[in-house]
Amino acid sequence: MKTLIINIKELVQVRETSVDKVSGANMKILPSIKNAFLLIEDDLIIDFGLMENLPKINADKTIDASGKIILPSWCDSHTHIVYAGNREQEFVARINGASYEEIANNGGGILNSAKKLQETSEDSLYQQSSKRLEEVMQLGTGAVEIKSGYGLTLDAELKMLRVIKKLKENYPIEIKATFLGAHAIPTEFNKDSSAYVDFVIETILPKVAEENLAEFIDVFCETGYFSVEDTDRLLTAAKIHGLTPKIHVNQFTAIGGVQVGVKHKALSVDHLEVMRDEDIEALKNSDTMPVALPLCSHFLSIPYTPARKIIDAGLPIALATDFNPGSTPSGNMNQVVSEACIKMKMTPEEAINAATINGAYAMNLQNTHGSITKGKKANLIITKEIPSIGFLPYAFGSNNIDTVLIIGKVVTQ
Ligand code: NIG
Ligand code: FE
Repeated sequence: MKTLIINIKELVQVRETSVDKVSGANMKILPSIKNAFLLIEDDLIIDFGLMENLPKINADKTIDASGKIILPSWCDSHTHIVYAGNREQEFVARINGASYEEIANNGGGILNSAKKLQETSEDSLYQQSSKRLEEVMQLGTGAVEIKSGYGLTLDAELKMLRVIKKLKENYPIEIKATFLGAHAIPTEFNKDSSAYVDFVIETILPKVAEENLAEFIDVFCETGYFSVEDTDRLLTAAKIHGLTPKIHVNQFTAIGGVQVGVKHKALSVDHLEVMRDEDIEALKNSDTMPVALPLCSHFLSIPYTPARKIIDAGLPIALATDFNPGSTPSGNMNQVVSEACIKMKMTPEEAINAATINGAYAMNLQNTHGSITKGKKANLIITKEIPSIGFLPYAFGSNNIDTVLIIGKVVTQ
C-alpha cells in the first residue's frame, strides 16, 4: 500500500542520513524542505523531496497537504501512563497550601496511587490506561516509554508491566517498558529504603527479567526516596539482568543522581529541575541524554530544567511529558513543546529537535523514529494550515494538528 502526500508547505526534521541525537548549537538547526512530497509504503517512509522533482508514482492513496506542515510524530520518552484512578484531591489540597512533600509524607502521593492500583484489576487498569494512550496518539505522539512504579509489590508491579505489554500488543504506537520498582518506599518498610531495594533486587527484578517485561530500569533517586547508594546497588543488579538505566534525578534536590546515572551509562537522566554546575559537567563526555519535563514544573510550580545552560554547555536535551496522576496529569507533547519555548527559552527548532530525534534517542529508537528519513517509520503529524513551524508553540492553546499517522495509518479521533 503506497500513500503519496503532495504539496506539503514544509516537511520538517528531514535527515537524509539519520543522526543519533542533536546537541548544543546544532539543536537550533531543524532541516526542512519547502513545497515537498512524501511517499509512504506500508509502515515506512520510502521517499521524499521537492514537488518539482516528484517522480511518476502509482500511489494507492494521495493526500494533498497544501498549506500544511509535516513533521515526525512526537517521541515521549518519559511517562507513567498506566495508573489507577486520579489524584485531583491532592491537587486541591496543594491549592489550599499543602506541599507535594507534605502530601506524600501523609500517605498521599505515590503511595496513594499504589494503594489504588493494588486494588484495581488488570482488566480495569488496562481499560483506564488505554484511554490515555489513545488520547496521546491523537495528540501526535508516535512512540512512548511507560514505567511501572505504582505497584510496589511483586504482584502489582508485574500487573502494571503486563498491562504495558498488552498495550504494546494491541496498539500501533511504539511502546518501551521501564521497571520502576524503586519509586517510593512502601509503608511496611518503615522508611528503610535499603531494605526495600533488597526486596526489589531479590524478589521483583528477577521476575521482571525472566518474563522479559521491561527493557529499562528506573529509580527515584531523591532525598526521602532512594539514595545514591540505593541507586548504585539497584543499577548494578539490573545490569546483570540486561536492563538499561533511565532514572529520575535532581527533581527537588541534587544529591549525585546525575553522577551515578552517568557511572552506569544511563540512557537518560530525567527531571533535572535542580542542576549544579558539577551536574552539567558530569554529563559532558557521556552518552546520557538529559531529559526535561516542563509540564511537571508547571503543575507543581517548581523550577524549570535549565535548558539554556545545558544546551549552551554543548549538551543535547530531550523533552517528555512525565504523564502521571500526581505531578503531571497531561500527556500533551504539544503543550510540552510550547512550555519549553515559553518558560525554558528554547527556540521552536530546539524544542522540536528535543521532542523528536532526542526523545527517540532517550528510548533507543533513533534508528527507526524521530526524523523524516527513508526507511524510518511513517509516524507523522500533519498540521492544520499554519503560517510557520513557530506557530505550533506560539498558538499554545489551539489544536494545530489536522491528521496523525502512525506506521502509515491515520489515527482516528
Ligand atoms: O516523575 N518523581 C517521581 N515520580 C513522578 C511523580 C509521581 C507521583 O506523584 O505520582 C514524577 O514526577
Ligand atoms: Fe516521572
